[in-house]
Amino acid sequence: MAVLERVMMSRLTVRALSRVNLAGVTLDIARVRAAYPALNEGFAHFDAAAGSLVAAPVAEAAHGVYTSAVANRTDAFEPGRKALRIVEQAREAVADLLGAQPSGVVFGSSATSLTYHISQTLAATWQPGDEVVVSRLDHDANVRPWVQAAAAVGATVRWAEFDASGALPVAQYSSLVGERTRVVALTAGSNANGAIPDVAAVSAIARAHGALCYVDGVHATPHVPVDVSALGADFYVTSAYKWSGPHLATCVASPSLWESLRPLKLMPSSDAVPERFELGTPSFASLAALTAAVDHLASLVPSVGTRRSQILTSMTAVRAYEMSLFAELVSGLASLPRVTLVPAPADSCPTLSFRVHNQHPAETAKLLGDKGVCVYSGDYYAYEFFSALGLRESGGAVRAGIYHYTTRDDITRLLDALA
Ligand SMILES: Cc1ncc(COP(=O)(O)O)c(C=O)c1O
Repeated sequence: MAVLERVMMSRLTVRALSRVNLAGVTLDIARVRAAYPALNEGFAHFDAAAGSLVAAPVAEAAHGVYTSAVANRTDAFEPGRKALRIVEQAREAVADLLGAQPSGVVFGSSATSLTYHISQTLAATWQPGDEVVVSRLDHDANVRPWVQAAAAVGATVRWAEFDASGALPVAQYSSLVGERTRVVALTAGSNANGAIPDVAAVSAIARAHGALCYVDGVHATPHVPVDVSALGADFYVTSAYKWSGPHLATCVASPSLWESLRPLKLMPSSDAVPERFELGTPSFASLAALTAAVDHLASLVPSVGTRRSQILTSMTAVRAYEMSLFAELVSGLASLPRVTLVPAPADSCPTLSFRVHNQHPAETAKLLGDKGVCVYSGDYYAYEFFSALGLRESGGAVRAGIYHYTTRDDITRLLDALA
C-alpha cells in the first residue's frame, strides 16, 4: 500500500478535472436512461468498464435478425442479401464511430481474440532480435499476445512503465523504440486507473522508426470521441459490449495495411480485405446490434449532419457529462478517510480504482453488491499494472466507473454504502 499512500487524492483534484470542456451540448440524462430498460431493475451501475448495459435499440436489432429471414451470406436470394447488407452496414457504422474506412474494419469475437490473431500474423514476419514494446498500464489483452508472439520468434520485449502518478510518460518511448522495433502496443485508456496516454505522440515515435502502433481502444471508446487518424494508430481495437452493444469486437486499420498481411486462414475462405481476417461465419444478429449501438451513441444528443458528426457531438457531451460526475465521485471518495485511491493522472477516463483500509477488495465489492451497487474487484486483467503496484497478490482493488447513464443518485448510493 506504500505507493498508494504516497500518491492520492491530490493527483485527482476536482480542479484539474474541470479542465474538460463543458461548453456546448449537454446530455438529457432522463432521455438517455430511458433507452436502457435494464436500469429499471434499480441497481447503481459502476461496472460498465467490465461491460455496459445494452441499449433497447441494440436488443431490438438482434431480435429483429433472429425473428426474420436472415440467411448466411449469398447474393442468390433476399435473406442472404440481407446478411451481406448487415455486414456492410456494421463496417460503415464502425468506420463512423472511429473515423476509419469501412473496408478497413475487421470483426472478431473479442478484442483478445483479434489481438492474438493479428499479433501472430505480424509475428510471422519477425526475425530473432526484432523488438516489440508493450506497457505495464495495459490490459493483458494488449500485452500477452505480443509477449508470446515475441517469445515464439526470439524477438525482444521492451516495457514502458507508468510513473508514480499512474501516467505513462511519452519520453521513455524515445529510448524504447529503435530500428528493430516492429510493434508498439499501448492503450488509449486504462481500464484500471483511467489514464489516457498520449497515443499520438507515441505513435509518431513508432512511425519515425518504421514500427506499427497497435492501440487498445476497448476502455477509451465509450468515454472519448475517437479519431484513429489523429491518434496515428495503425491498428485500433474496441469491443462493442463496452459501449452499449453486443459481445463483438472490431479492429480497424488502413485497407492497404491489411492488404500487406497474410493471416492464417482456410483455403476456401475469402482472400479479400477485410474478410481475409475474419474466421468463420459471423453473428449477423450481433453485427446488426453493433450498428444499432453506434446509431444509439450518435443519438445520445440529437443533432443533424452525418452520423460521424452526430457521434462526435454526442461523445463530446458524454465526455463532459461523465467527467463532471467523475469529479463528484473523486471528491466524495476523498472525503472518506479509509478509502485510498490507486494512482491516476487527472485527465483520464472516468474510471478509478480504490481500496478500503484493511478490507479485501472482493469483500468490499460483495458488501457494495449487497446494497445494489455494482463494482468489480481484482486486477480486471490489468495484470502488469497491479503487479507493479504490489497490489495484485492482495486482491487488486475495487473499480468504479462512470458511464453515460450514471446519475448523481448513483454516486450518493456508492458513497453512502462505502461510508
Ligand atoms: C482495456 C481493455 N482491453 C481489452 C479488453 C479485452 O476485451 P475483450 O473482452 O473484448 O477481449 C478489456 C476487457 O475488459 C479491456 O478493458
